[in-house]
Amino acid sequence: MRKELVLGIESSCDDTAASVVDRAGNVLSSVVATQTKVHSAFGGVYPEFASRAHISTIVGTVEKALADAGAVPRDLTAIGVTRGPGLIGSLVVGLNTAAGLGLGWGVPVIGINHLRGHLRSADLEERRVKFPAVVLLVSGGHTFLAYMEDFGSIELLGTTRDDSVGEAYDKVGRMLGLGYPAGAAVDRMAKTGNPRIRFPRPMISEGFEFSFSGLKSAVARHVEHSENPVSEDVAASFVEAAMDILLTKCARALKERSPRSLVVVGGVSASPQLRARAKELCDRADVELCLPPLRWSTDNAAMIALATWDYLDAGQAPRPLPQTELPITEY
Ligand code: KG4
Ligand code: ZN
Repeated sequence: MRKELVLGIESSCDDTAASVVDRAGNVLSSVVATQTKVHSAFGGVYPEFASRAHISTIVGTVEKALADAGAVPRDLTAIGVTRGPGLIGSLVVGLNTAAGLGLGWGVPVIGINHLRGHLRSADLEERRVKFPAVVLLVSGGHTFLAYMEDFGSIELLGTTRDDSVGEAYDKVGRMLGLGYPAGAAVDRMAKTGNPRIRFPRPMISEGFEFSFSGLKSAVARHVEHSENPVSEDVAASFVEAAMDILLTKCARALKERSPRSLVVVGGVSASPQLRARAKELCDRADVELCLPPLRWSTDNAAMIALATWDYLDAGQAPRPLPQTELPITEY
């Protein structure tokens, strides 16, 4: 019997990912080809190398995702592929692969916004999100707070005016010689340090907008001008400042909007410090905390597949397009 499955493909940055997810959000397979080795020498993602690495791994990644799920192309209701935001060359590899497979297999292809994927990551394997919800999205490329009545409506409360918090983590990590990406390493180092350095907390006292470049520069100045900077204390003080900013804004949003849940998603939601501070806040505010399981915090294709189901369930199944057009419905 034909199964009803979605194949998700994600290639917006430095990981090539494919995953098969059913309508209930169960993840039947998730395969990621990471490019950490390709980029680590550069201290950041080298876009042209990222595109080339995607080209060499994407077909094998998709094949393995189908095989691991015990699925064949005719089991697919749709292919969901990240259409942006992201590195353009990397996105093109995923989009063209999805388009080609869709044409060849006769399966519709749906373009999915990467951030919508992150928003859906908290419901993978188990429905956790309770609406209305305040959402904090913290990734390498974005930082924002939003209010959602349901998954169809997003009201942006505030976003960052400069760097994202993930970017600040990665830059501080680079200053401390922790490689790339540095988020998890900065958190680990922070746990062994004393948060004695009082770094600034820009824009903390009002509103929902964020700014992290002043904090990042203050850390850089401290490292440059101290005779013997203690890396552990720098990491601990940076993490504490970043958490104070994020959690103060969340607390303000919970107070103003009285939601049922606080949803924290994106790569930085893997931070144990952020998870602990968010839990404290939610316990105090009597609001449910919804977090993706750790493996779905950072980029993955399962979240893209689950977001694809939203469009299919909403009856927005893409129309079959003439062969001459790219068979991708954009949302
Ligand atoms: O969502 P994501 O995987 O990719 C983007 O969409 O950008 O987020 C990547 C970001 C990186 O900046 C990385 O350093 C950060 O998430 N990150 C963390 C942790 N794990 C990943 N930041 C803090 N603590 C972590 N444990
Ligand atoms: Zn992401």
